[in-house]
Amino acid sequence: MKDIPLLLIHGFPFDHAMWFSTIASLGANAKVLAPDLPGFGRNAILMQEDPSLEAMADFLIRFMDQNQMASAVIAGMSMGGYVALSLAENYPTRLAGLGLISSQTAADSDETRKGRFETIKKIRAAGPGVILDSLVPKLFAREKWKNPDLRGYPERGAKAAGVDGLCWALEAMAKRTDRTAMARSLNIPILVVHGMEDQIIPFAKARELAESCQKPILIELPGVGHSSPLEAPDPVASGLARLMTKCREQAGPGRSADSSDADPSLPQS
Ligand code: MLT
Repeated sequence: MKDIPLLLIHGFPFDHAMWFSTIASLGANAKVLAPDLPGFGRNAILMQEDPSLEAMADFLIRFMDQNQMASAVIAGMSMGGYVALSLAENYPTRLAGLGLISSQTAADSDETRKGRFETIKKIRAAGPGVILDSLVPKLFAREKWKNPDLRGYPERGAKAAGVDGLCWALEAMAKRTDRTAMARSLNIPILVVHGMEDQIIPFAKARELAESCQKPILIELPGVGHSSPLEAPDPVASGLARLMTKCREQAGPGRSADSSDADPSLPQS
C-alpha cells in the first residue's frame, strides 16, 4: 500500500539542506521529499511570474504532479509555511496534513511590509550579503548564530538565491494575505512547532494558532529560536512523525505506513 509522502519546504534564506538533520532523525517514519523553492538552492526564479506565494504553491503542485503525488503532508518552515498555507487554500484536496514550523498565518504588519521593500532596495544596491549582519542573529536563539555550522546555512542560502531570488521572495512574502481563518477551518491534522525564543515570529502567536485549530499538535521548543529544524532537528522530527501518524489514521487503512514504501528518499530539487 502506498504511504502518504511528506513534503518539507524550507524558509528564507535557506534551501533544502536545512532539512538534512530532520530527515535523518525521521528515519523510516516517512517518505520525504524536500524541494528547493523557486529562486533558492538549485532552482531558478519564476521569471515570467509576478512575485507571490501563490506562484510558489503552483510550483509545488507541478512538483507533486511530476512525482505522482495525488496528495501529501506538507510542512513548511516560516516562509515555507506561508507557501503551504497558500497551497492549502487553493488546492485543499492535495493536502493530507499541514505542518507550520516556526511559521505563522498572519500577514505582514505595515511596518514589516515597509521593511521588506527597504531590504529589497538595499539588496539591489549592495548584493545578497547586505542582509546577513542584521538577519542572521535573529534567525537563532541567543548567541547560537555565532556557531559557524549554524550561520553557514543562511549564508550559503542567501548566496545561492542571489539578488533576484531574495528580492522575488521578499516581495512575495510582503504581499501575502492573512490565512488565520482559513487555517482554523481546515479539518486535517495541523502540526505547530515553535521555538520559545523565536525572535522573528513570537512563540505566543504559535500557541494561539494551535489552540484555535481543529486538529492541532503543538510542540513547544524551550531554548530554541526561529531556525528550529537546524537548532532542534530531533524534536522537529518527532513532531513530524506524530503528524504523519495522525494523517495516516485520518486517511484510513488504505493509506497506512508500509515498510516497502517507507524509505526516506533524498531531498530533491
Ligand atoms: C523565514 O525564516 O522564512 C523568514 O524569516 C520569514 C519572514 O521573513 O517572515
